[in-house]
Amino acid sequence: MYWSSLFLLFLCCTTCQAQTPAFKLFFGTSVLNETWREPLIFDNPLPKWIKGTLIRNGPGRIEVGKRSFKNLFDGFAKLHSWQFPGNGSSFFTSKFVQSETYKESLRINDIAMYETLDALSPPLNLSEQKVAFSRGMDNMNVNIYNYSGDCVILNDYWKLYQIDCNTLETIRSVTAKVPGEDISFPYASKLSVAHPLREYGTDHHLTVLQSISMLPLLPHKLTFVRIKSAGIREKIAEWNVKQMPYLHSFSVTERYAVIFACPFYVNVENILKGSTPIDSLIFHKDEPTIAYIVNLSTGKVTTIETETVFSMHHVNAYEADEDTLLMDVAAYPDAAIMPFFEFKILMNKTRRDTFPYKPSLRRYKIDLKGKKITPVSVAVNPRVPQANTLDLPTINEQYRSKPYCYVYGVAFKSDFKTWGNFSFVKKDMCNSTGDLSWSLPGHYPMEGWFVPHPNGSAEDDGVLMVPVFNGNNEKAYLMILDPKTMKPVTTAYLPVSLLFHFHGRFFENLH
Ligand SMILES: [Fe+2]
Repeated sequence: MYWSSLFLLFLCCTTCQAQTPAFKLFFGTSVLNETWREPLIFDNPLPKWIKGTLIRNGPGRIEVGKRSFKNLFDGFAKLHSWQFPGNGSSFFTSKFVQSETYKESLRINDIAMYETLDALSPPLNLSEQKVAFSRGMDNMNVNIYNYSGDCVILNDYWKLYQIDCNTLETIRSVTAKVPGEDISFPYASKLSVAHPLREYGTDHHLTVLQSISMLPLLPHKLTFVRIKSAGIREKIAEWNVKQMPYLHSFSVTERYAVIFACPFYVNVENILKGSTPIDSLIFHKDEPTIAYIVNLSTGKVTTIETETVFSMHHVNAYEADEDTLLMDVAAYPDAAIMPFFEFKILMNKTRRDTFPYKPSLRRYKIDLKGKKITPVSVAVNPRVPQANTLDLPTINEQYRSKPYCYVYGVAFKSDFKTWGNFSFVKKDMCNSTGDLSWSLPGHYPMEGWFVPHPNGSAEDDGVLMVPVFNGNNEKAYLMILDPKTMKPVTTAYLPVSLLFHFHGRFFENLH
């Protein structure tokens, strides 16, 4: 009796260690329901000056038929919108993106053969993988933008989908041509970034086209590009690179763009062998990060090396003086974070908590004249040390490319012990005594968006819109936070659950 009780206790502890029910729902369960303009009920009045639409992109479905994705990054794109007409009401809509891969997958009741970041379960065989690679990536589940009136959704890929931001209907796929560029063989796998940025003082956006050479003697190519609409591009600069870095975002100041190429490189041999993209990316821990600084008016590219580091998300950058840029990024010592969103890690508490997770906000001083990049320490507030570990950064976009103080984001391991102890933080880059944090036990905030007050004068005059999954009652809600205090103004539960999603944006002219 004694031994059997001990065995049961051991079994229970092992199960508790490995499974957290809320994690299974929040990170690993498809949400198939779609909704159309469901009214939301806020627990406190919604400020009437909030007028516009928040739209967020992310995975909504992780299996079809008997096959499933192994990595949350590959989940089929689902869009969620919160419409605010400006009279204190709000309506919620959610819809799957009708991409080619999604439509074909439903038709064949299996995951269609298109390129995915990670493998499938059961896996594709080698010839199926080659078909998938040749068809490229079609699932744009990462970000959403307004390109001069065209709503588009993106992944780290050159192709994009145009959608109707009012109805969330899918309109068409777009593979834009860059004048003077031939992006066919021997270049393959047309990568780009999921975080283009607005060009300072214009209605245009900026991005990078990454052309991977499949021939040993032909160098890879980076092309820096101006986006004028969903389908119109203009070349600003182009240069060869010895190795093709993985890029997810970059920085823009008034006159420059900074592409921060961390030494996380595409291995072409692995691609040719049929490896998935995640297995074809290798971090070179002994190689420097290479910054390519593009002069946006002349197209001149300056190359400067700096410390070995890895970053997916840039925060902001600006010109401190004529020859000095300051650039902030959410950084990690290496690219170990990349496989973290595999379900086998996400669903296992022991693996999550023991994973080498070491995020830190990093500031770099870029001396254009001296061609030198120096890390600048970011002060830590000992009362809110997790503020320096944020990722999924958001700022008041009115301060993009300008001197600024506040960055908001998610700290995923706030107690430095448990990956799952989430908080939503405010980091004051000008004075760490301004650092603040919001958290509730068992609640999981996602990326926020800063909506400025129309008559505001301070950088933090406005509200933060933060979707949260409440693991205690297993329901999701939208929280409106006061950025000055990081205390909730009002919250509204949603009619459907939410799978953890990635990025979004508030469109002020859409309501
Ligand atoms: Fe991102």
